[in-house]
Amino acid sequence: MSVAKSDFKKVTTNSVQEMKRNGEKISMLTAYDYTLAKIIDSAGIDVILVGDSASNVMAGHETTLPITLEQMIYHASSVVRAVERALVVVDLPFGSYQGNSKEALSSAIRIMKESGAHAVKLEGGIEIRTSIERILTAGIPVMGHLGLTPQSIYKFGTYTVRAKEEAEAEKLVSDARQLEEAGCFALVLEKIPAKLAKKVAEAISIPVIGIGAGAGVDGQVLVLHDMLGMTHEFHPRFLRRYLNLYEDITGAVQNYVKDVKAVDFPNKKEQY
Ligand code: KIV
Repeated sequence: MSVAKSDFKKVTTNSVQEMKRNGEKISMLTAYDYTLAKIIDSAGIDVILVGDSASNVMAGHETTLPITLEQMIYHASSVVRAVERALVVVDLPFGSYQGNSKEALSSAIRIMKESGAHAVKLEGGIEIRTSIERILTAGIPVMGHLGLTPQSIYKFGTYTVRAKEEAEAEKLVSDARQLEEAGCFALVLEKIPAKLAKKVAEAISIPVIGIGAGAGVDGQVLVLHDMLGMTHEFHPRFLRRYLNLYEDITGAVQNYVKDVKAVDFPNKKEQY
């Protein structure tokens, strides 16, 4: 089922906030290229995240740290060209905002100006509040990201569930309030206990979108290549695979190789 053009209204930061008020869950997926962004936009996804997970998924890096601002702008502009309805949010990559608020603002401006995206996402709590406020003064909507924040992987040491201990859980709730007060329009919570995520979603008025954070939040996000089953070596508990494209693509390529070798492709109808 795809969404007919006449049936849709563009998704905005205001409309995702309205969804929370109305109890309608928000759907979000990542995309990094034109072709897949076009498919998921016409399938009716609400929010497309041009995540810095592109560093893993598209470039094959072990972490999200190496991806550059230029590379994020390249991915984001490819997605923006495809999208007619969804809200497009782009990750500020590692090293493009942690230095100071002026640097954060100039990185956010480059993303907005050079890609045409609608909002940016930053990882962190109170430590980056000034940067978030400065970006907001330029009229750029900001999505927060707490819990497991992959740009800090070398501080955490592992990708396991965050905020299981009381002190970290308390800091997370306080950071979520800070981000709401600073003016973030929404918040991603990654890989934290479902009970804690629900508590945060109930405590703040902005939408909370979870990944590995249970069902008590206002929306869900997954990495597109994971939910399509293209990345078969990654299987966290929270991931539901809707397709098994790794096997489907392998089979299709094996058939193509076989047909080429056997001179079965192209046939008479497939040539000029
Ligand atoms: O980069 C990304 O894909 C993300 C999601 C996991 C939320 O930040």
